[in-house]
Amino acid sequence: MDLSDRKVVVTGAAGFIGSHLSERLIEEGCRVTGIDSFTDYYSPARKRSHLKGIISHPRFELLEEDLNSCNLMDIMRGASCIFHLAAQAGVRKSWGADFGCYVESNIMATQRILELLKEIGGVRMVYSSSSSVYGETDKLPMGENDRLKPVSPYGVTKLSGEHLCELYRYNFGLDAVSLRYFTVYGPRQRPDMAFSRFLNAAISGRKIEIFGDGSQTRDFTYISDAVQANLLAMEYQGEQTVFNIGGGSRSSILRVLDIIREISGEELSVDFIEKAKGDVTDTWADTSRARGELGFEPSVPLEEGIMREYQWYGDYTGTELS
Ligand SMILES: NC(=O)c1ccc[n+]([C@@H]2O[C@H](COP(=O)([O-])OP(=O)(O)OC[C@H]3O[C@@H](n4cnc5c(N)ncnc54)[C@H](O)[C@@H]3O)[C@@H](O)[C@H]2O)c1
Repeated sequence: MDLSDRKVVVTGAAGFIGSHLSERLIEEGCRVTGIDSFTDYYSPARKRSHLKGIISHPRFELLEEDLNSCNLMDIMRGASCIFHLAAQAGVRKSWGADFGCYVESNIMATQRILELLKEIGGVRMVYSSSSSVYGETDKLPMGENDRLKPVSPYGVTKLSGEHLCELYRYNFGLDAVSLRYFTVYGPRQRPDMAFSRFLNAAISGRKIEIFGDGSQTRDFTYISDAVQANLLAMEYQGEQTVFNIGGGSRSSILRVLDIIREISGEELSVDFIEKAKGDVTDTWADTSRARGELGFEPSVPLEEGIMREYQWYGDYTGTELS
């Protein structure tokens, strides 16, 4: 695909997935405007370090602004696509008083972008959704047309964002595609996510806490595969609007711990604690639609991907780990 000199906007550009996506878009020749408000959900300094490879690039511009107050009209001028990744992520924190922040960043900001896109027209939106929209189910693998019944407040806000994309499409012909990521991992993974916590503990000799008994499974998606899905979604010309993006590496948490033991050569010390409210038992993506329609082909197997994240953590230790 020839993306030379195309202007695109990436929200959440300093985050885990957004920073990798921004790098890849620059590599492909795009002009990238990244927006990020550097929320303190995890260290803003860590987010800054995500951007060190592109921050001075002549085709990259970073706007440190909140999506709920920035001048979107100016920012979107000349852009052909907006990748909307900015969100308050994380299932476990989404209960209680913090919910307001999930509503602000995941629902209000999405609606604000859609309102603007309705006005200007002709811009594709690639929305970052989540496997958490499915909730608890015995029907595996999960297909895009299956029942959607999130079991966490976070999942509710991500599903609201998806529904907003759909209804702006239905009512105003807006061009929006949603990608439901299944547990993305790799270098720069958010520190609250399981692999980050496990690798951090393996390197620092700290104890690992496992929510539940470790038999829960996840379909893990390596970061470059999630990024590739975004590029394919930008170019997609078909009729579908929602895609599962799973890496095809479904595995239990206990198996992941075994892999980390093998890779690190460390005996891990593990505490099993109560299953967290909002966490589902299993996820498993049916990716036949993404494969057939987008040409999505995840290419990094779990062991290889964990090794790369482990190596990144090794390099990162000594600067900052959280
Ligand atoms: N990481 C995963 O496994 C995963 C799985 C499913 C869905 N997702 C979705 O993918 C997207 C990216 O996730 P991530 O893991 O990279 O998270 P992240 O927290 O690393 O990145 C999100 C970024 O958005 C920014 N942000 C939040 N609210 C903002 C606002 N109002 N205005 C401007 N910037 C704001 C944050 O500062 C952060 O840098 C999110 O939409 C998330 O819901 C991620």
